[in-house]
Amino acid sequence: MLQEQGIVISTIDSPSTTKISFVCTGKNVHKGEYVQINYSQGALIGLVNDVIKRNRYFENSDSVKEFENTNIDISKYFPSDSWEFLEAIVKPLGVLSKDNFFARSTLPVSPGEKVYLADTEILSKFLHLDSNGLLLGEIEHPKLEVKFNLDRLLQKHFAILAQSGAGKSYLTSVILEELLDRKKEQGRIATILIDTHGEYSAFSNICENKDHKDYSNKSLRIESGDIRIGCTGLSAGFFFSLLPELSPAQKRELSLVIKKLDLDKKNGAGPYSLKEMIKELELSEKKDQTNRTLINYLMELDDYRLFGKIDTPSIMDAIDSGKLTIIDLSREINKKKKQIILYYFAHKLFYGRINNSVPPFLLIVEEAHQFAPEMASKEHALAKGILETIAREGRKFGASICLISQRPVKLSTTILSQANTHIILRITNPYDLKHIGESSEGLDQKSIDMISSLRVGEALIVGEASSYPVFFKVRKKKSQDSHLEVNLSGLCRSFEESKEILKKDLDSF
Ligand SMILES: Nc1ncnc2c1ncn2[C@@H]1O[C@H](COP(=O)(O)OP(=O)(O)OP(=O)(O)O)[C@@H](O)[C@H]1O
Ligand SMILES: [Mg+2]
Repeated sequence: MLQEQGIVISTIDSPSTTKISFVCTGKNVHKGEYVQINYSQGALIGLVNDVIKRNRYFENSDSVKEFENTNIDISKYFPSDSWEFLEAIVKPLGVLSKDNFFARSTLPVSPGEKVYLADTEILSKFLHLDSNGLLLGEIEHPKLEVKFNLDRLLQKHFAILAQSGAGKSYLTSVILEELLDRKKEQGRIATILIDTHGEYSAFSNICENKDHKDYSNKSLRIESGDIRIGCTGLSAGFFFSLLPELSPAQKRELSLVIKKLDLDKKNGAGPYSLKEMIKELELSEKKDQTNRTLINYLMELDDYRLFGKIDTPSIMDAIDSGKLTIIDLSREINKKKKQIILYYFAHKLFYGRINNSVPPFLLIVEEAHQFAPEMASKEHALAKGILETIAREGRKFGASICLISQRPVKLSTTILSQANTHIILRITNPYDLKHIGESSEGLDQKSIDMISSLRVGEALIVGEASSYPVFFKVRKKKSQDSHLEVNLSGLCRSFEESKEILKKDLDSF
């Protein structure tokens, strides 16, 4: 049984195919609510863009002012309260025709037509929700779980955009849970997360709290300090990208060294690291400036303590369908080292997909504007090129990316435009809002205006994953909270407590 919400009224510019106004007769009508009007073309689904309170008594400013001046309590003489009513403005989204076919509305509904709260079954079909999909939250009016189809969301990449504290990481945790909870028959993806703040360690830690779900058996966390990239097998081109300042002569020299060490390895000399490469250059007969500078460059790279003979730990072996691999960069302060780590793994993953040696994957990059900035020199945006390649070509190979950013205006427009679904949480910065309006297809000004009034945990999804923009409330997460989920006063307390314990220990000593 459909719930009646109102009656379509006739105004100067509505009802039209782009705007419908109705007077509310139902209990309550909310901004962001989906309504349904059954008429000659089929079931029209519309979104309530605005709700206006009207009261004829207060329309005439002269008379309101006159009465206010007399100090008479107007409600005793006029039932002004009962004249108040709600008028809602609806944006028609489309029509489900009688033969079950979705189309744009090409004929306006008639004034006097009844408006209902949208039927959840029709709405679900209309928005392309999938009962087998990822449960990210719910639409509030009418109450409807939003489950997005995995293929539609991931295959053409997605971005989570919002200002700091709006709930990006919380939503990401919800997405991770959904991916980790999938059964083999549903299709499971391998997930790799670049965790810049160490917010996701809760997934790999054993959860003892019964109110939360344990994901530790499906998650592996690797700290950046433990990562060693094996030099054996790295191409000369890889080093050229890390060292853009190399001259043609130095590039030639470096290629020869790598060739020589590869040949030695074939003849049984074993794997090699930067140290062996440097040694090889030092032995070289060419003792000119070119050679010395090249040695210095390689020594600088070696100082990062990031390169070894072989990959350790073997992250590529750890990556598995239905599992999460967290690369924790939170303790790393060197920006270039962070860039190199992402550049290396993104490369390995993408080319691993091309030759089918790694499972289909989703690479989630937190603080994506740091790794793929719109404007930065190649040296400071090492990973940008490979991220752009995955964004452009990954779809064909089962390589997806999710970019998370609090400064969309600083994010590479190439990547942002290739991310076919945008999940947007609260944003108030006008530059970011403008940028999102320009880069998210299908967003009208009303929806953009609504983004700045979203509360923490409320989201708008627009693009490939759903056929129309959908506002929804992010569901509660099942995993335990991150250790970073502490408020400031809590942090102050634990700092003072640990100081007191230290003092007591020292005194007793
Ligand atoms: N859907 C939600 N339900 C309940 N609490 C939420 C929700 N979303 C976010 N929060 C809370 O709001 C706070 C900020 O969320 P979160 O850390 O996800 O923000 P963020 O956008 O990732 O911020 P930053 O840009 O600083 O990383 C956290 O304390 C989190 O628990
Ligand atoms: Mg965050």
